[in-house]
Amino acid sequence: MVDSLHHQRVLILDFGSQTTQLIARRVRESHVYCEIHPFNMTPEKIKDFQPKGLILSGSPSSVHDAAAPLVDPEIYTLGVPVLGICYGMQLMAHQLGGTVEKATRREYGPAQIDIDHPGDIFTDIDPQGSRVWMSHGDRILKLPPGFETMAHSDNSPEAAMGNAKRNFYGVQFHPEVAHTPCGKDILENFLFRICGCRPVWTMQSFVESQIEAVRNKVGDDRVICALSGGVDSSVVAVLLHKAIGQKLHCIFVNNGLLRKGEAETVQRVFRDHFEINLTYVDASAEFLDRLHSVIDPEQKRKIIGNLFIEVFEREAAKIGGARYLAQGTLYPDVIESVSFKGPSAVIKTHHNVGGLPARMKMELIEPLRELFKDEVRLVGRELGLPERIIMRHPFPGPGLAIRLLGALTGPDLEILREADSIIQEEIEACGWYEHVWQAFAVLLPIRSVGVMGDERTYDQVIALRAVESVDAMTADWARLPYDVLARISNRIINEVKGVNRVVYDISSKPPSTIEWE
Ligand code: XMP
Repeated sequence: MVDSLHHQRVLILDFGSQTTQLIARRVRESHVYCEIHPFNMTPEKIKDFQPKGLILSGSPSSVHDAAAPLVDPEIYTLGVPVLGICYGMQLMAHQLGGTVEKATRREYGPAQIDIDHPGDIFTDIDPQGSRVWMSHGDRILKLPPGFETMAHSDNSPEAAMGNAKRNFYGVQFHPEVAHTPCGKDILENFLFRICGCRPVWTMQSFVESQIEAVRNKVGDDRVICALSGGVDSSVVAVLLHKAIGQKLHCIFVNNGLLRKGEAETVQRVFRDHFEINLTYVDASAEFLDRLHSVIDPEQKRKIIGNLFIEVFEREAAKIGGARYLAQGTLYPDVIESVSFKGPSAVIKTHHNVGGLPARMKMELIEPLRELFKDEVRLVGRELGLPERIIMRHPFPGPGLAIRLLGALTGPDLEILREADSIIQEEIEACGWYEHVWQAFAVLLPIRSVGVMGDERTYDQVIALRAVESVDAMTADWARLPYDVLARISNRIINEVKGVNRVVYDISSKPPSTIEWE
């Protein structure tokens, strides 16, 4: 990272709030680099990080809990400005000599604050009736010495507090969520006025610094990259190509479970347009063979994951002599999450390239490991990747195999692929592509009766799945207009031989999942 970026960063200490990542995204959107670390990061490590400011996140805990997450009080002596958000504010009050009152009931939802102390973090914010989002149990009864009330609401006499001498501030509400319209300004006031940050974190500066870092690291060695056609691996490939040119070798494995036209697009974009060294392997026959008569979805995933590694290793060996393996790991995978949420249950195993590095004894290059998904898209744009790839919906590694319920056959895959392609076309044509998280076809393992012309048919059923989501953890079915649904259904039944019925999946996640398998 170039020097100027390094010295302009903010540290977010995570106490387990669901919105901690949102805080980080808001800070980055304001062009300030930040990282999330667990609340118990030692003062030594914090000093090494050299933050211009510290943000304490919210938490599901109460400072009165026996096992409440606390920070080492030494962090208040480092001379670094601090902003406490919700629990973060209560924690500051608790540790700096104030009193926090145990809640009798939670305050959750919209509220209005009146600002008692304009200026500082409230510079240029409407002093009366600003809308904010509250979500807290406890509240502050007595401010710590040296602090004054900066804002109040009907329910929270201390909706914000500040100690301008020490540059310590706290807000009871959540400035990071969209329901707090002035939240971005409050955060920016903290970053720029209180911490003195400069807005130097841009994707252009990121690209420049990464290119330099990759060049220095790779030297005369070679790098192999598994290209999937998804946003992350595409951005990695183009970024590395910019940095090291022909020392990068990409491998694209066609597992026979891709969408219509995908293999061709990848070759056209990466080999023809970007002139990247690309090995295209058509392993579809091998995959279909291994999957023959496999019904269990987890079994399918395992087979596909393992065979992918086998094929990839084989091709990498042909290229030979590469020291590094490039991977599109993103920041959310890197953040050491605070385990208040309990062990999250593994519902579906996701086999992508996870097993590769250990098996291949290669060193990893992960140029995107500091980025959130929206930043990866910006980098893609900066690098001139086509919009179609940048805005592409996620597509599961095991591809169509987990959308064809039951055993896979070549003809059924073709039916699914055709139906899916109609869905893609129509969702794009009606302008809904950007609004939905994913939209796709599922081929059901049943037949139903229909009538075409004078003929009775007994054909297959396609389920249309289209969901809205922000992170795939929860999702709701998209309220697609009836005429779009009608067009998709008509086209599939008329154009895809073997299908006589289309149904729309109106289940949310949870309790359903996005994919059917
Ligand atoms: P579910 O079905 O669990 O899916 O609601 C959540 C998100 O994950 C994707 N998904 C997968 N991605 N390998 C992947 O790379 C997989 O095995 C896999 N299974 C589900 C799914 O498309 C959705 O975006």
